[in-house]
Amino acid sequence: MNILLLGSGGLLGRYLAKELAAGHTLVAQTHQDADITDASRLDGLFARRWDAVINAAAVCDFDACEKNPGETGRINREAPLDLARRCAAQDALFVQYSSDYVFGGEDDRLLSESEAPHPLSVYGRQKADLEQLIPSACPRSLILRVSWLYGLGGKTFMSRMPGLLMQQQSVRTAAGKKGCCLYAADGAFWTRQLIEAGQTGLLNLVNPGGTSWEEFAQATLVQMNALGLAPKCGDIQTLPYEQLGPDWAKRPRYSCLDAGKLASVLPPGPRTWQEGLGEFLSAWKSVAAA
Ligand SMILES: NC(=O)c1ccc[n+]([C@@H]2O[C@H](COP(=O)([O-])OP(=O)(O)OC[C@H]3O[C@@H](n4cnc5c(N)ncnc54)[C@H](OP(=O)(O)O)[C@@H]3O)[C@@H](O)[C@H]2O)c1
Repeated sequence: MNILLLGSGGLLGRYLAKELAAGHTLVAQTHQDADITDASRLDGLFARRWDAVINAAAVCDFDACEKNPGETGRINREAPLDLARRCAAQDALFVQYSSDYVFGGEDDRLLSESEAPHPLSVYGRQKADLEQLIPSACPRSLILRVSWLYGLGGKTFMSRMPGLLMQQQSVRTAAGKKGCCLYAADGAFWTRQLIEAGQTGLLNLVNPGGTSWEEFAQATLVQMNALGLAPKCGDIQTLPYEQLGPDWAKRPRYSCLDAGKLASVLPPGPRTWQEGLGEFLSAWKSVAAA
């Protein structure tokens, strides 16, 4: 397939670029190569015909979205809708990532694709708008709802966790939020499988099993010790997430995504979060040793 990947310099984008490098004709564009709000740059890229276009570009900075809804909305809402229309015009599959932040987190109930979104934040509303508007802008679209992404070189808290545990005697993590995580390598792998299967629609894409940041930190510590990494940290402290700042309450308290639909489309579906974490830590150990 001819595949255009936008946002290839980000956390998921880098794993996607690696995953799709073999077996497909891939054109991977970082932010520097192609700004998704730059219509003339996109005109140039869409002069070519694509079988699939993947948008991994976004502003994931929650606070930036709260402070600048207009500016971030151009990247997180308007540009993906423009890409969806461009894909529809040439019958390309459009792949867009959404987030568990489309939910408000009121109930402790596993969230399936049929659950109605109820975003509390600007970022969550931008994503909920995409889920609603992309299917009519581009009937051949695949929207993948991901959550708590982590991987090598990532800026997210979970990505930085092994480094923090190695270097600090004490690590403090937000507590009281329950959700699902996704190792970016698995995100890229399952994106590829779904594209190759010609899948469309909305799907949750996470490593199954609910967890919390404090549990993830504890599990990372245990698995690092098992891998012989000898982390310096002996004390994981917790702080209720609502106490971290006024906008933290706009993040869902509970947002565990049900990965059952993906497992039924492509059995057996993603591995558990503990297995994904183990794979990440092995890769982290190899890079640290190099
Ligand atoms: N990270 C998570 O925990 C998480 C959770 C749920 C959903 N998601 C979604 O998953 C997708 C991938 O997220 P990620 O974690 O890989 O994000 P990321 O690491 O922040 O990467 C996003 C990439 O987009 C680029 N970008 C920003 N504005 C752009 C623009 N106008 N044109 C082109 N590129 C631009 C960024 O470049 P610069 O760095 O140069 O700005 C960066 O390389 C996003 O849709 C995100 O909303 C992520």
